[in-house]
Amino acid sequence: MTFKDLVLKSKALQTLNYATETILLTWKEIAALFGLDQDIYKNPLHKPLPRPVDAILIGAGHRGNIYTDYALLHPGELNIVGVADSHAIRNGKFARKHNIAAAYRFYNWEEVFKREKFADAVIITTPDYMHTAPCIKALEMGYDVLLEKPIANTEAECRQILETAKATGRIVGVCHVLRYSPYFRQLKEIIDSKTIGEIVSVQHLEPVEFVHMTHSYVRGNWRNSKVASPIILAKCCHDTDILRWLINEPARHIQCFGDLRWFKKEHAPEGSTERCTDGCAVENECPFSALQIYLRDKQRLYVFNMPKNINKWDKVILKNLKTTNYGRCVYRMDNDQPDHLTVNMQFEKNITAAFSMEAFTSYKGRVTRIMGTAGDIVGDMENYTITDFKTGRETSWSLKTDYHGGGDHRLVKDWVQAVGHQDPAILSSNIDVSVESHLMAFAAERSRLNKTIEEIVL
Ligand SMILES: NC(=O)c1ccc[n+]([C@@H]2O[C@H](COP(=O)([O-])OP(=O)(O)OC[C@H]3O[C@@H](n4cnc5c(N)ncnc54)[C@H](O)[C@@H]3O)[C@@H](O)[C@H]2O)c1
Repeated sequence: MTFKDLVLKSKALQTLNYATETILLTWKEIAALFGLDQDIYKNPLHKPLPRPVDAILIGAGHRGNIYTDYALLHPGELNIVGVADSHAIRNGKFARKHNIAAAYRFYNWEEVFKREKFADAVIITTPDYMHTAPCIKALEMGYDVLLEKPIANTEAECRQILETAKATGRIVGVCHVLRYSPYFRQLKEIIDSKTIGEIVSVQHLEPVEFVHMTHSYVRGNWRNSKVASPIILAKCCHDTDILRWLINEPARHIQCFGDLRWFKKEHAPEGSTERCTDGCAVENECPFSALQIYLRDKQRLYVFNMPKNINKWDKVILKNLKTTNYGRCVYRMDNDQPDHLTVNMQFEKNITAAFSMEAFTSYKGRVTRIMGTAGDIVGDMENYTITDFKTGRETSWSLKTDYHGGGDHRLVKDWVQAVGHQDPAILSSNIDVSVESHLMAFAAERSRLNKTIEEIVL
């Protein structure tokens, strides 16, 4: 459909009752209709690279593999020259995948920095508590960094990384991948074009989905806020970041309610056992059964280092359910992360945002409603509708991507460009803007614990 056709279609529909008409279009058509950029990834700062960026991966787990797969797909842009991981199987698998010589394989991140600098950059995807020390060391040795979120588990450490990045002049990209997803980029384009006028308020929902919640925040590595970090940081710093980015104003005040309502010992059903594999009497009716999630449904198996031979899978899964936290009863863990949170935020210009994180949902993703002075937008990461107040016209479009909205490799591309051209401006999620989202999360947690309204001091 040409732009002229779209205008004609739009004009034809204007003569109908727009309040009841919905036009279903693609982004390209939407962009043409509203005079926006059709290619949301066209970054005028992108240029051909003189050579691939050489990087070392620290932490060859789930996230590290996702980001570095970019090098396999785009060898002319990124080359992985070293790996550090304390897990021998992961270390070996990763070294084979990227053809890394034995001399550049390390079993602890500290060993990387005992060598003279041998790459342009370091990608840090170790557990949350192990971000600050390798990041500071890398910056001091002159490496640029791609750092997983959360930047660090404490406000003091976040500020320390920011200060070190400034002092050394190195690039630190933070993996706020949602900024790179088509869904949020399209929302941002529309908001910035003032199609719905000035933003007044935003409602934003993060449905975590009950299996993800139990996997990561009841049984998994993020279950205890004192060992990992509060869920508002660990899970929702993406959301504080995206709200800050869409609203495009600093947040000034924040208030949070929420607690751990369900996954506690007093809710353990009669007949339940320490592990789902111990002959639990209610296993077949429990929605959180580890046997159901991992063994029967084969969900989230990346935590078990599965063998290639699929015939061995059930044996490996059962062994893991009998020996790791993933087989334990959800009501008998040492978890303390809230399973529901509501957060109110006040931004500059008195723009408000109401955010909810919910464990008990059958669906995942994000649902966002943006209220503007000339119209509103409703989106759920797959479908959007803009309604124009004056004409009553509703325009809808849809897209399908993965649960990060296809943002992972687009983030890596921008980071590689930023490092290759030594230009941090190419990257949207730099350390300075990313720290802000973390300060919002720390303030929200203080509010939740102290029942206060907290000021956000940047
Ligand atoms: N951006 C996102 O949306 C997103 C999503 C999930 C997780 N994360 C974050 O990514 C990070 C990694 O998470 P993951 O799920 O990949 O975890 P993971 O456990 O799969 O990977 C971490 C790896 O670090 C390795 N490691 C541990 N100690 C080490 C040491 N001393 N030296 C070198 N390596 C060491 C582990 O062996 C493991 O392979 C976490 O900070 C997590 O919060 C971000």
